[in-house]
Amino acid sequence: MNKKPVAVITGASRGIGRAVAISLAMEGFDIAAIARSVDSEGMNILGSEIEKKGAEFFPIGLDISCTSCQKEVVSNILERYGRIDFLVNNAGVAPLQRNDLLEITEESYDRVMNINLKGPVFFAQKIAKEMIWLKQTVNNYKPVIVFISSVSAYMTSTNRSEYCVSKAGLSMTSALFADRLSKEEIKVFEVRPGIIQTDMTVKVKDKYDKLIAEGLIPQNRWGLPEDIGKSVASIARGNFDFSTGMVFEISGGMNLHRL
Ligand SMILES: NC(=O)c1ccc[n+]([C@@H]2O[C@H](COP(=O)([O-])OP(=O)(O)OC[C@H]3O[C@@H](n4cnc5c(N)ncnc54)[C@H](OP(=O)(O)O)[C@@H]3O)[C@@H](O)[C@H]2O)c1
Repeated sequence: MNKKPVAVITGASRGIGRAVAISLAMEGFDIAAIARSVDSEGMNILGSEIEKKGAEFFPIGLDISCTSCQKEVVSNILERYGRIDFLVNNAGVAPLQRNDLLEITEESYDRVMNINLKGPVFFAQKIAKEMIWLKQTVNNYKPVIVFISSVSAYMTSTNRSEYCVSKAGLSMTSALFADRLSKEEIKVFEVRPGIIQTDMTVKVKDKYDKLIAEGLIPQNRWGLPEDIGKSVASIARGNFDFSTGMVFEISGGMNLHRL
């Protein structure tokens, strides 16, 4: 049994997932980092940063939408560490092409929904079941599951509808797991980023630069992956012990309804 708690982060090779992995390593977790390939520049750099923080790094290749591949990954993590304490369902994609709602294709809808929603639902299901029996064997065990959704869970963008639908579904997924797992003493939280500077938003940087300059975000700046990393670290520190199913919006105030 690993002495340190173990965090599993999907989509850890870049962007938000990478910042979350580093934050959790700084909070004392060993890190099982998932991306489609273990053999990428992103995973290599992440590995050395995690190890510099004194944590162990376990890189895992998994396409999260392959639900039949997930069981083996969970087994491999448990074989290596004997425990999973913290799961961050972060991996996600935007549509390959932004298309009007009246033109979206089933192919794009299925791709986005399988990665952003179906994959996390069944991955969380598998890990939750393990967490339930791990409670019997791990001392001082405080399991947590986090879903990284988006302001697109409630804000419409009619040129990437499949993304909005997937994130609205992920938001309800978080509430459902929070409810079902409350009696198992597993806490579940939704972290809802706003507009964050990562590879995902690089293609639309000019558009958002302009919108931010015009006042779209009350705090008047792009979000950074570290903003999300810090919020997940705060959950991991146990600061929200008497809560579950909470939504933490990290968006510079996009949640405000301004007149
Ligand atoms: N950036 C934003 O403004 C923003 C705002 C709100 C919410 N979010 C959400 O935050 C999460 C992370 O976004 P990001 O901006 O950090 O994106 P990103 O920079 O594009 O990174 C996406 C991550 O997901 C991994 N990934 C992609 N498809 C995968 C799959 N099928 N299976 C496993 N891993 C996969 C990628 O790794 P590989 O390519 O190495 O596989 C990468 O690590 C996403 O769920 C996104 O929807 C982002």
